[in-house]
Amino acid sequence: MSEVALLQIIGLVVVGIGIGILLFLQSKFLRVMGFVIIVLGTFSLIALGVPQMASLPPAIETFDITKVNTPDDLAGIGQKIFFSKGQCALCHSIGPSESARCPDLKGIGAKLSPEFIYESLTDPQAYIYLDFRHEDVPKEYPARMPHINKNPIALSEQEIYSVIAFLQKMSGEPISVKVEDVLGISENGSTEVASVADHGA
Ligand code: HEC
Repeated sequence: MSEVALLQIIGLVVVGIGIGILLFLQSKFLRVMGFVIIVLGTFSLIALGVPQMASLPPAIETFDITKVNTPDDLAGIGQKIFFSKGQCALCHSIGPSESARCPDLKGIGAKLSPEFIYESLTDPQAYIYLDFRHEDVPKEYPARMPHINKNPIALSEQEIYSVIAFLQKMSGEPISVKVEDVLGISENGSTEVASVADHGA
């Protein structure tokens, strides 16, 4: 029996006791108490009848990257990481988006080699030097893309390669990240991500 149902039964019993007191006892004090019990019991029954809006933390899914068999499996894990633990979707869109503040990653797996993507993720400053968007001398331009392999996002090597596999897959590219290579990275292969709705990417 659910917790709510149990409380409802207790509430009903309490109301029943109150009604019993009113019906069968004469003492004024007890009758007042009986009335109070009925009111309180009814209130709790109403409160328990209101549907519960529990906000539970998202379910955590665990993947064991060491159990993947195909590049597609790897890309599947990469997709989940992209939309949750990796936080990529906070900044990047896949396809044009008005709210996106950062480069659109649509087709990125076809534009950039896996090595270049790896470097973009782990050393964002590598190819970003100067900001030319104003007059005078171009200023140094600090990368806003976070280091994905460091805190707070801190993806493992295996997770990073899964994300790269996903970026290739969603760009319609053959996935060049090799499952054997990813499995060869000795790490704890288990990855936990909060499960999210399917973004259909
Ligand atoms: C805080 C916002 C932010 C987050 C989170 C973020 N990025 Fe970025 N990313 C950027 C910005 C901004 C750039 C453009 C270069 C720069 O300014 O650093 C960029 C550049 C890139 C590039 C290079 C694009 C190109 O055309 O050269 C790739 C690939 C990329 N991000 C992938 C990812 C992935 C994958 C994740 C998640 C693991 C991620 N990003 C998370 C902001 C972010």
